[in-house]
Amino acid sequence: MKPKLIFQGAEAKIYLQDNIITKERIPKAYRHQDLDLKLRKSRTKREAKLLTKANGLGINTPKILNSEMFSLKIEYLNGEKLSDTLNSYDLKMQLEVIKKLGKETSKLHINEIIHGDLTTSNVILLDNKTYIIDFGLGKISHKIEDKAVDLHLIKEAINAKHFKNSKELFQSFLEGYESNESNDIIKRLEVVEKRGRYKRH
Ligand SMILES: Nc1ncnc2c1ncn2[C@@H]1O[C@H](COP(=O)(O)OP(=O)(O)OP(=O)(O)O)[C@@H](O)[C@H]1O
Ligand SMILES: [Mg+2]
Repeated sequence: MKPKLIFQGAEAKIYLQDNIITKERIPKAYRHQDLDLKLRKSRTKREAKLLTKANGLGINTPKILNSEMFSLKIEYLNGEKLSDTLNSYDLKMQLEVIKKLGKETSKLHINEIIHGDLTTSNVILLDNKTYIIDFGLGKISHKIEDKAVDLHLIKEAINAKHFKNSKELFQSFLEGYESNESNDIIKRLEVVEKRGRYKRH
């Protein structure tokens, strides 16, 4: 099969061929060329590094198969993008799925992996499991603050896209989000929220 363009985002083109995704970070004309090269390189490298780490820990993420300067080959997850389908499930199923996402997120955080763009658009549901994708804005950090920002991002995404049951959904996410420090992180979330909308880079 020939590669097929399946997604064109602001930053990347996604091709699918034989169950393998190629994620290619494309130049952005409005950015200064040096900065553009630097950002595309560093985001590709981060994504490879974080996916490799998460894969190795058995966290639900797609396997990374190859990495080049601006492009990655990643296992294709032939499932449903959570942002597209969550609202169509019955409430019980919605709560179950989002709780699983909370659990996966806590596994990332316990291992000092910060996602950086945690939204339901970056989650694929496959075989009843939630897989987290798109780690290009992520980093390694042990900071409570960075973990709280991830919670803030998913909360905002739930409020924006899944508003009908947003309260129950975020509550259920937190039920899945368990760790030694989860109480501190949830407390810090209030501080992050009071500071106002968190600016994404
Ligand atoms: N491993 C994968 N399996 C299945 N679909 C994928 C996979 N990776 C990406 N996709 C599809 O491509 C879309 C875009 O991918 P991704 O979220 O990684 O890039 P992006 O949001 O454009 O990137 P970035 O935020 O890093 O600029 C996803 O929403 C999903 O539909
Ligand atoms: Mg994305």
